[in-house]
Amino acid sequence: MFWLLLIFSYFLGSVSFAIIICKIMGKKDPRLLGSKNPGATNMLRIAGTRLAILTLIGDLLKGILPVIIAKALDFTLPQQAWIGLSAIIGHLYPIYFKFKGGKGVATAAGMLLVTSPIIGIGAITVWGITFYVSRISSLSALLALFVTLILTPIVAMPILIPVLILCLLILWRHRRNLHDLITGHEHHF
Ligand code: G3P
Repeated sequence: MFWLLLIFSYFLGSVSFAIIICKIMGKKDPRLLGSKNPGATNMLRIAGTRLAILTLIGDLLKGILPVIIAKALDFTLPQQAWIGLSAIIGHLYPIYFKFKGGKGVATAAGMLLVTSPIIGIGAITVWGITFYVSRISSLSALLALFVTLILTPIVAMPILIPVLILCLLILWRHRRNLHDLITGHEHHF
């Protein structure tokens, strides 16, 4: 059953809400505009607040749903985290979109919120404060990752390995943002 849910989670994570919403609404493909990232931040840039919020909700739910199912099936905390990670990997490397996906922040937030609410709420709070101050989405995500890394060994040691992988993957996906932040070219809202 664990492996089945792990695979389901990957397929669910592969559903790119940004791309699907743009298709349905007759908007240009988010992979061609702005940062070219199929995620809520880029949707805010290119498609407006309403569609960005819809994308955010969809991407959050991709992280939330598989972990809720895992909890309901009495899977252990590490198993829940691996299942959540599988959804994030789906989002980053979606089977339906030639393995070219988003940056995984919203899906990771959803996964963390259910697996370890303290880490989830901590990371989302840091994201919110950083965004309020800086108006930079990527910086907010990177600081939220940093807090996730600090909190995990303190409050949820058993899920350290999947969380570590999650952080490394999301960091890797933000390498262009990191470069732009360092050189002062990152997009502000
Ligand atoms: O959640 C994605 C965000 O951290 C960066 O997105 O579009 O500015 O590269 P973007």
